Amino acid sequence: MGYNVVVVGATGNVGREMLNILAEREFPIDKIAVLASRRSLGTEVSFGDRTLKTEDLDQFDFTGWDMALFAVGSEATRDYAPKAAKAGCVVIDNSSLYRYDSEVPLIVPEVNPQAVHGYARKNIIANPNCSTAQMVVALKPLHDRARIKRVVVSTYQSVSGAGKEGIDELWDQTKSIYNPTDDKPPKKFQKQIAFNVIPHIDVFMEDGSTKEEWKMVVETKKIIDPAIKLTATCVRVPVFVGHAEAINIEFEEFLDEDEARDILRESPGLMVIDKREDGGYVTPVECVGDFATFISRIRQDSTIDNGLNLWCVSDNLRKGAALNAVQIAELLGREVLKKG
Ligand SMILES: NC(=O)c1ccc[n+]([C@@H]2O[C@H](COP(=O)([O-])OP(=O)(O)OC[C@H]3O[C@@H](n4cnc5c(N)ncnc54)[C@H](OP(=O)(O)O)[C@@H]3O)[C@@H](O)[C@H]2O)c1
Repeated sequence: MGYNVVVVGATGNVGREMLNILAEREFPIDKIAVLASRRSLGTEVSFGDRTLKTEDLDQFDFTGWDMALFAVGSEATRDYAPKAAKAGCVVIDNSSLYRYDSEVPLIVPEVNPQAVHGYARKNIIANPNCSTAQMVVALKPLHDRARIKRVVVSTYQSVSGAGKEGIDELWDQTKSIYNPTDDKPPKKFQKQIAFNVIPHIDVFMEDGSTKEEWKMVVETKKIIDPAIKLTATCVRVPVFVGHAEAINIEFEEFLDEDEARDILRESPGLMVIDKREDGGYVTPVECVGDFATFISRIRQDSTIDNGLNLWCVSDNLRKGAALNAVQIAELLGREVLKKG
């Protein structure tokens, strides 16, 4: 016996990837429905070797469905997630709407799987921001060994993190640079993204940081440990898929780079590729379509007592969103619903 599963936002970047991953990981499904806005009614999406037709989220009755994997943005989530949850269907949400709600668990299954039992308070589980998800998979095993005091992270985030429109803008603008009569001014991004980098993701906060940076701080505290201090600079780069992060970590205790490498090698969800030679590290284009978060460039930071630097790369549509959501669904099935 399997689950009745709804994928909400099935025509989007994350929704399509959720369908791919549910099929790849052979998630036990009895019945599946794919939803999007009325605009997409009847649009065909692939699920393994099947083709499914999208239905209208607004008209859908969630009664009798076990779980709904939402990837529609905060506004539509606000309107429809409570309806699904009230109908008894557990919502696993990719938007930021519920992440900071104390009654909603925020889960990365390799890091805080025990939090799943808190789902019942609202019948909703939140998925973290893409840049947080890959980072906490790397930080947790190091924190368990040497207690992290402070993290300084700079991100290099791909345009797919900004949805379908982000991908289209990089593609169209890149072509237009070679054809000056076809001007493509910035629309989705604040400045030109083709052949450029933009130190601005999401809105500005009062203290001068951006909301993307704030999310990394608050989510790391909620998922791993409120005592961890973190400061982030989030940057959009002209890469289609795959987020990279340069992470500097200060620990309470000394942690040797070789021991850190061994710990990371043994930790779930991680793949260490760290050779000190040309090409002995992973870049975003190499991680696309992969489940793992890749760690490279592990080295001591000799400017502080207990410091380490590393480079962390992952497919933002997978670990940063769709894979993590499907892993939560697997966890919920294994620990709570116990059907499959
Ligand atoms: N991309 C990432 O790396 C990433 C990472 C973590 C979290 N997320 C989050 O995941 C969510 C989806 O992101 P995405 O990148 O997949 O966006 P996207 O490619 O723009 O897709 C958005 C999806 O939401 C649907 N939708 C939007 N408004 C709707 C409404 N009112 N009713 C029904 N369906 C509606 C769209 O349907 P139509 O096609 O019919 O418009 C489409 O299927 C967002 O909350 C985003 O913040 C994304």
